[in-house]
Amino acid sequence: MKNTNYSGTFSKYYDLINKGKDYDGEARVIDSVIRKYLKKENSGKKSLKLADVGCGTGNHTIAFSRMGYRAYGFDVSRHMIGIARGKSTGLHFECKSFKDVNEPFDVIISLFDVVNALGPYKNLVGFFSSVAKNMKNGSIFIFDAWNGSAVFLHPPEIKTKTIEWKGLKIERKAIPKTDFLRQVCTLKYDIKAYKNGRLAERANPSIVINFFTYNEIASALDASGLKVVQAFPYKEPSKKIAENDWKINFVCKLR
Ligand SMILES: C[S@@+](CC[C@H](N)C(=O)[O-])C[C@H]1O[C@@H](n2cnc3c(N)ncnc32)[C@H](O)[C@@H]1O
Repeated sequence: MKNTNYSGTFSKYYDLINKGKDYDGEARVIDSVIRKYLKKENSGKKSLKLADVGCGTGNHTIAFSRMGYRAYGFDVSRHMIGIARGKSTGLHFECKSFKDVNEPFDVIISLFDVVNALGPYKNLVGFFSSVAKNMKNGSIFIFDAWNGSAVFLHPPEIKTKTIEWKGLKIERKAIPKTDFLRQVCTLKYDIKAYKNGRLAERANPSIVINFFTYNEIASALDASGLKVVQAFPYKEPSKKIAENDWKINFVCKLR
């Protein structure tokens, strides 16, 4: 599948743009949810086999591996996979569509807006079907996504962040342009790196986010042979979702 979103410029700055994101903390929350749903089928199993689909630069894959999972990373962007491999963790990172993978996993994750990076709605069913075919009875699929109703109620705004990194001061501005009719948000980044107070580098990568409502996602899952067993607001598995929760986690099993 062609993917222009996560190519050269964006992937180069990806980890920098997301510096400060608590990948380990997120992985611990997801792990607690996985343990809750897998306890019957996999009790006694030491190491669960996990696929991180849309693994990007591998940060969740690495976090889950540290927690004892046999973790594999897949992504369609060779640039993102190149960066994941460059972290020299010895983990298996493959530049491959999950459609071309044929092996069962205990756990499949797709975290940090992968579902919003797939393109228009018609691509959701194909993606979820490729996940379903690599699940067996008792497998679990966890992903997150922007919540369409929250985007309508509280449209994305310009966000700025300053980061100190390797002796540089980085200013990062994210400028959203949202097309509510087509449910698409283009996020343009303005990244400026200063060394000794002088501008040393500037880049303007952008990504396209397709956002969907809860019902649209649930319908696509249903059409792919999956069912939602739990939905919770980002990092809060003990809570129920609401219309204004910006990000939702879906926990799914085979139907
Ligand atoms: C926002 S990034 C998230 C990366 C990573 N999961 C993380 O948490 O940092 C979205 C990723 O989805 C990948 N992606 C987009 N379409 C995909 C597809 N059809 N199959 C697998 N990965 C895809 C992109 O290449 C990109 O690396």
